[in-house]
Amino acid sequence: MSRFPDTMEFTRLNRPIGIEWSASNLEVEGQIPPEINGAFFRAVPDPAFSPLFPDDSILSADGMVSRFSFENGTVDHAIRYLRTPRFEAERVARRALFGRYRNPFTDLPEVQGTDRAVANTTPVWHGGRLFMTKEDALAYEVNPHTLETVGPWTYEGKLRSPTMTAHPRVDPVTGEMFMFGYEAGGLCSDDVAYFIADRDGNLKSEEWFKAPYCSLMHDFGLTERWAVFAVFPTKTDLERLKQGGVHWSHDADGDAWIGIMPRYGKGSEMRWFKGPKGVFAFHYINAWDEGDTVHLDICLADSNPFPFIRAASGDFRPTFDLKMTSTRWTFDMSNPADTFVARDICPPGDLPRLRDADLSRPYSHFWMPSMNPQGGPPVPGGPVGAQFNCLLRIEPATGRIGMAQFGPGTAVSEPVHVPSGKPGHDGWLILVVDREIDPGHHASELVIIDATDIGAPPVARVRVPVALHPQIHGCWVSGAQLAQSRHKG
Ligand SMILES: [Fe+2]
Repeated sequence: MSRFPDTMEFTRLNRPIGIEWSASNLEVEGQIPPEINGAFFRAVPDPAFSPLFPDDSILSADGMVSRFSFENGTVDHAIRYLRTPRFEAERVARRALFGRYRNPFTDLPEVQGTDRAVANTTPVWHGGRLFMTKEDALAYEVNPHTLETVGPWTYEGKLRSPTMTAHPRVDPVTGEMFMFGYEAGGLCSDDVAYFIADRDGNLKSEEWFKAPYCSLMHDFGLTERWAVFAVFPTKTDLERLKQGGVHWSHDADGDAWIGIMPRYGKGSEMRWFKGPKGVFAFHYINAWDEGDTVHLDICLADSNPFPFIRAASGDFRPTFDLKMTSTRWTFDMSNPADTFVARDICPPGDLPRLRDADLSRPYSHFWMPSMNPQGGPPVPGGPVGAQFNCLLRIEPATGRIGMAQFGPGTAVSEPVHVPSGKPGHDGWLILVVDREIDPGHHASELVIIDATDIGAPPVARVRVPVALHPQIHGCWVSGAQLAQSRHKG
């Protein structure tokens, strides 16, 4: 195999690892609380082959599904590649056959028309099934016990959308899963599909609407009454793609638009509100409604946080030089104006984690990786090229903030939250912490901390014998949920 490029996408923490392995009874320092019983699934983009284009993005990398299994204070780990048609074709050829990130015109002739899915962004559990998602394709179903790939998920052929978001929302009361897919009408189309599955995983509705323009729509907001879709000016161009160019560039002068429709409504009921120019948000903290008011809390930046997308439009700032804010946008649905109110609510960060029970409802606190200026420089790696160095517990209403750090040269990943089931106790957070030993060499450990007192020393650390490639997102699936799996072990 040819050598991987010496770019940020393939070096430091992002150096490809690509080892499928499993191990039982990992070494645990401390005590894992017995109520932590289930599995922490992680979506890991780890390229099996050096890319056709040396400036390619880590977002094109083959998806691996990683699982830490917890039972009676013990931990096992397993990690496997998704057997997508793309991975299988390249494995047979022993080299990359697919071209640039989300540009099928750059694929080699022998794989033209083959599913380009890499399923590398978010593991999702719903209706007794585990899915691996990435927004430019359908979700892929995975057997949660064996990590074998089942195949693309179409809701028994009922789903018309060819794409599904990596950020579906599962309502904690109804159990329904709310999803969308953009570029639903084909490459660069402004069609968006919005679809809902009932608690058993049956597709119950699919509504299509037109966005103001085709943009990178990574996340969305859901309240008890409304669905909120933001269109930020990271734009595409079919002619550029046909000429072999990049999928996205960011338009610093472009308007953002926020569309709000009834959560069980029609696309024709969408109302569009005009937002600021040039901004972008990958992740939404939460959304909820009070009477005619809709609140949307988001991790907002003054440009697209991905360096390769900014570079396509001539913005070469390092990611942590962007102006980032945690912002609340408040909309008055009784007012016909297309304006709304914005205010900052807490320190910036990204990859926010909310208690599942707080989704779409008023909430008191959440957790989020962030940068502590006193915590040392960010370790290069991860999807945006620099990792956060601390984890915050934030109460927006009181301003109270707790912080966890794990020493110099460490990188913090998105945590999962595990409820304790005990009255008055907020449960536990589990996350991977990477420690760079020297450039090109790092070690990974799994850390379990008290979700309330996150600054206290971890209650347990789990030594991981093989360094882990940075994940994008993860999810927690309880032992009770796994027992309801559609697949046998
Ligand atoms: Fe995401």
